[in-house]
Amino acid sequence: MSQSVVDSASVEAHYAHQDLELTLLTALAAAGMNLDQLKIEDLAPIDEFHIGGRRATLEFAQQLDLNATMQVLDVGSGLGGASRCLATEFGCQVTGIDLSAEYCRVANMFAQRVGLDSLVTYQQSNALDLPFAAGSFDLLWTQHASMNIVDKSKLYAEMWRVLKPGGRLAIYDVLAGEGGPVIFPVPWAREAGISHLTSPQQLRDTLQDVGFEILSWQDSTEKGRSWFRRMGAKIKQDGLPRLGIHLLLGTDFRLMAQNQVRNLEEDRIALIETIVRRPALSSVD
Ligand SMILES: C[S@@+](CC[C@H](N)C(=O)[O-])C[C@H]1O[C@@H](n2cnc3c(N)ncnc32)[C@H](O)[C@@H]1O
Repeated sequence: MSQSVVDSASVEAHYAHQDLELTLLTALAAAGMNLDQLKIEDLAPIDEFHIGGRRATLEFAQQLDLNATMQVLDVGSGLGGASRCLATEFGCQVTGIDLSAEYCRVANMFAQRVGLDSLVTYQQSNALDLPFAAGSFDLLWTQHASMNIVDKSKLYAEMWRVLKPGGRLAIYDVLAGEGGPVIFPVPWAREAGISHLTSPQQLRDTLQDVGFEILSWQDSTEKGRSWFRRMGAKIKQDGLPRLGIHLLLGTDFRLMAQNQVRNLEEDRIALIETIVRRPALSSVD
């Protein structure tokens, strides 16, 4: 069996949950949400599975001049919070793909419950083998998904392939820092075997080798640290909220969150937001 097949099965197992849909709907109801009239804001504490949550999505999206004519692909879309947010804010059509069939099922269920199923759809697929024709999308969006993928050249080459010439790729990812190895478990891996972080310089080089032009490059590590400090202070004061990413991660959530903070504070991981473009004159194969 190839390494990527082994990796995919282990990654899917890492994110797997016993009865995620029931767990999340029960928690939403317990938090006082009307399940027949859910709004995307109700879901934000559980469906934005990246550092900075909904605010990070909005701030990044505002740099992209999105509009209703655009076809967007969210790679590693998770439960789909960001894609529903982009569709709501800008009216664009968004397709999400994720390795986890379970996440895609729940993401489609939420899209339907918030009335966005005509604009947003999710399908199970591997980012290394996207089921779309060359030049299909105006914009690719990906947040905190590459950490589980070892072959970065293949990942970004596949993203390049499905982008229209002149189209952009917006990446918000966790990268390797200079402060030493990652301490596990973390939200994307319980052990080192499925964690494949690249350094900022390696990411830049890989993107440029594939042919992308770098339009913007922002280190948001300090922003991530501040967000965790605010969250930590709130949890210390009020306890764990009813709704949060802990519902997805299970019993080792606390240790994962503590390690995430330590990894950030000790520079073991870094956060980068970058927007890159496939040159307009590149030919579609
Ligand atoms: C930390 S979650 C982030 C989800 C979402 N982007 C968000 O920010 O809410 C990482 C996601 O990447 C997905 N993923 C990891 N490797 C993948 C691959 N090779 N292809 C597609 N999705 C992948 C996982 O299944 C998981 O849903």
